[in-house]
Amino acid sequence: MISLGCPVCQAPLATAEDGRQLRCEAGHSFDRARQGYWNLLLPQRKKSKDPGDNSEMIQARRRFLDAGFYWLIAERLTQILLEELKNTPQPELLDLGCGEGYYTTQIEEAFSTAGLNAAIAGLDISRHAIKAACRRSENIDWLVGTGADLPILPGSLDAMTLMFSRVMPEPMARALKPGGLLLVIWPGPEHLIELRELIYDEVRKREFNPEADLVPLFEPVRTESLEFQFEVDGGEALSDLLLMTPHGHRIRQETRDRILAHTSLECSADIRFGLYRRA
Ligand SMILES: C[S@@+](CC[C@H](N)C(=O)[O-])C[C@H]1O[C@@H](n2cnc3c(N)ncnc32)[C@H](O)[C@@H]1O
Ligand SMILES: [Zn+2]
Repeated sequence: MISLGCPVCQAPLATAEDGRQLRCEAGHSFDRARQGYWNLLLPQRKKSKDPGDNSEMIQARRRFLDAGFYWLIAERLTQILLEELKNTPQPELLDLGCGEGYYTTQIEEAFSTAGLNAAIAGLDISRHAIKAACRRSENIDWLVGTGADLPILPGSLDAMTLMFSRVMPEPMARALKPGGLLLVIWPGPEHLIELRELIYDEVRKREFNPEADLVPLFEPVRTESLEFQFEVDGGEALSDLLLMTPHGHRIRQETRDRILAHTSLECSADIRFGLYRRA
């Protein structure tokens, strides 16, 4: 297990009661959920009753990812991590904003296959996401928590991945070891351009880049691009793609119907992989 910190008092958390409870020296305790995850999100840290992605979005993303449309992203992600961490003994890695755990599971499987012993955890604020993630793998520590206040022992992580999720520089830096690796993955300007052209009258091609937010807590190492084409059949796959992207949430019913009338859609993927080291 990765090194956890008590969400109340930040002291180290240790497993007790036959692995069914986490407890700190001050006596704060957290029970393991029936599905196997740990709920480390304090009620007062929730901004809503049911924060994060809802069940419908999670199921849509799961079906879409399981259909393999983004396996090239998973492949490149795991190649980078194995290359960067192959000489680190028993690395501790957190996938922050892990969603329903598709990529986290690919990471765990890649490390196992390579014979590398790593402690891997996935954290998300959505309990729907983490419940779904529990069904993917028992070799990963699944955590409900917030990236704004990570329940991780400060300076303990060797690596963190942040995929299509919000950058929170201070808590991310606090959880990593000095020199620890941060891999941020975000959509480039051409990502899903065909879909966005169907949704918006004018498509904005603004390039997001987390570097300005990350420096000086992190030192940039390099950025890579991955571009590929994929074809989505009309019907469920296209509807799932709409549901899992932020674009799909903003559209009117008539636009949605018009898009879903397509029998298939050729899509561009344009993905950026940014590597940083904690300064
Ligand atoms: C676009 S999804 C990406 C999920 C996953 N990384 C993937 O690529 O499949 C963003 C995720 O961030 C989660 N999230 C939003 N705010 C968060 C926070 N403050 N802390 C942790 N996770 C958060 C959402 O619940 C959602 O699962
Ligand atoms: Zn405590």
